[in-house]
Amino acid sequence: MVLEVKQLNKSYLQGDGTSLEVLRNIDMELGQNQTAAIMGESGSGKTTFLNCITGLDKFNSGKVKVCQKEISNLNDDGLSRLRNSNIGFVFQFHYLLKDFNVRENVMLPCLIAGVSYKEAARRSEYLLKEVKLKDRMNYSPSQLSGGEQQRVAIARAMVMVPDLLVMDEPTGNLDEQLTDDVITGIIDICKENGTSIVIATHNKRVADHMNKVYHLSRGHLERER
Ligand SMILES: Nc1ncnc2c1ncn2[C@@H]1O[C@H](COP(=O)(O)OP(=O)(O)OP(=O)(O)O)[C@@H](O)[C@H]1O
Ligand SMILES: [Mg+2]
Repeated sequence: MVLEVKQLNKSYLQGDGTSLEVLRNIDMELGQNQTAAIMGESGSGKTTFLNCITGLDKFNSGKVKVCQKEISNLNDDGLSRLRNSNIGFVFQFHYLLKDFNVRENVMLPCLIAGVSYKEAARRSEYLLKEVKLKDRMNYSPSQLSGGEQQRVAIARAMVMVPDLLVMDEPTGNLDEQLTDDVITGIIDICKENGTSIVIATHNKRVADHMNKVYHLSRGHLERER
């Protein structure tokens, strides 16, 4: 299993002192090369769920294992290593570094992990070609449209060839044609590398491309397909 979630509970303390239970007893499993969509209305907890399973946010109880490692048992170093080498993350609101150009932004995770500059450049160029941004490689992120920035973030998430690619509404700024092109492109790259995908999306077209579809509502995660 690439991802195993058991009885995950997560609540937030609200301003008035009461707690908001966002995730209740959630179970989910994902094997190698499997893909899953998490759907659910705005505020249902999709981002919270993705943050919990990638160790970006703490949860109240339950177990999360990524690549056989239970994330609550990892120290900061272990968690950073897992996040850099096993998990690729595309945020709902992408964070590209504006002092680096597009190609360098994609290369960074490799350089942090000690991959050679040449190899990092090779992988980045390949991925940028896949997301149809080959001609924007030397631009600054501030010169790109929202949808182009999202695609750079996707390329960056794939550059370390992760076991698990987690994407939070990555196609929100793309039109239908580009959404289909980019999603099928990502799925192809993931297939080649044995990468599993969890994607939070409002978009039925995106969910249709995944093997499994889940729905998050009132804290419960239900398998739809
Ligand atoms: N840090 C926080 N403190 C308190 N409440 C929070 C916090 N982060 C999120 N929430 C609340 O938790 C709930 C779930 O938020 P979350 O961002 O996970 O929803 P979402 O399904 O990703 O929504 P969207 O589709 O709009 O991105 C919301 O009601 C939100 O207000
Ligand atoms: Mg969200």
